[in-house]
Amino acid sequence: IGGKMYCQITSNIFLLRNAVLEVEAIKVGCSVPAARKTGTTICGVVFKDGVVLGADTRATEGMIVADKNCSKIHYISPNIYCCGAGTAADTEMTTQLISSNLELHSLSTGRLPRVATANRMLKQMLFRYQGYIGAALVLGGVDCNGPHLYSIYPHGSTDKLPYVTMGSGSLAAMAVFEDRYKPDMEEDAAKQVVRDAIAAGIFNDLGSGSNIDLCVITKNKVNYIRPHDEANKKGVSTDLLHGRDKTGDYKYKQGTTGVLTKAVTPIDLELLEESVQTMDTS
Ligand SMILES: *[C@@H]1O[C@H](CO)[C@@H](O)[C@H](O)[C@H]1NC(C)=O
Repeated sequence: IGGKMYCQITSNIFLLRNAVLEVEAIKVGCSVPAARKTGTTICGVVFKDGVVLGADTRATEGMIVADKNCSKIHYISPNIYCCGAGTAADTEMTTQLISSNLELHSLSTGRLPRVATANRMLKQMLFRYQGYIGAALVLGGVDCNGPHLYSIYPHGSTDKLPYVTMGSGSLAAMAVFEDRYKPDMEEDAAKQVVRDAIAAGIFNDLGSGSNIDLCVITKNKVNYIRPHDEANKKGVSTDLLHGRDKTGDYKYKQGTTGVLTKAVTPIDLELLEESVQTMDTS
């Protein structure tokens, strides 16, 4: 069962229901479908003149890395983008459908769509499907009312916040925001904190990995940076988190260890006997 629960009693009811379903399934010789864990780190932040969205690029199929360089920041409209976590097909098709409907809406109104409109359309669709569409989204954009950022859960609940994270790496990413977020940040500072939040997901969550994609949306401008950082490059191996290079020089320079005392003891040897043998070369 995914999604936010508003009380413990609700989740206990679901646990009970699942236990009953399992017993019933075993009776007729079926197995209950296993829960799928999502592996992703996505996030976003509102800064002085816009929003920065970020995502890792790993796609998984159980224990297998299915795609090392997939794109998780989806286009919604010229001024709105949306990061997706959860079932890859669901995030892709949901964002495409809403993007298409917003395009028709734009054509009809002659205006750029508002982020609140995209949020409403996404949450109403996800709520209608009762969580069966496995899409956890981070929606960001700039419209006539300024920059806006939303997180949307698979069951249809949404949050409007200055910084949000989603996916299995969301706790690692949120830790970075809780430490470093400030209101009205400059663009470079906002990009750095989003980059570091995604890097925290990549290094601390096994479901996330590979590269970091960013998308900076400001008034009348979108800067889609793919990739912003390339992690674990073969042969080079740059450490994204600490900025170190694993292919270092391991030679110790002379003088690394100081000489404290020095004693030279000559050994007097007396030659008692000397014999010379010829080598057998036959
Ligand atoms: C990932 O894909 C983008 C294009 O979508 C490409 O520019 C980039 O080089 C790729 N990165 C790697 C490491 O393959």
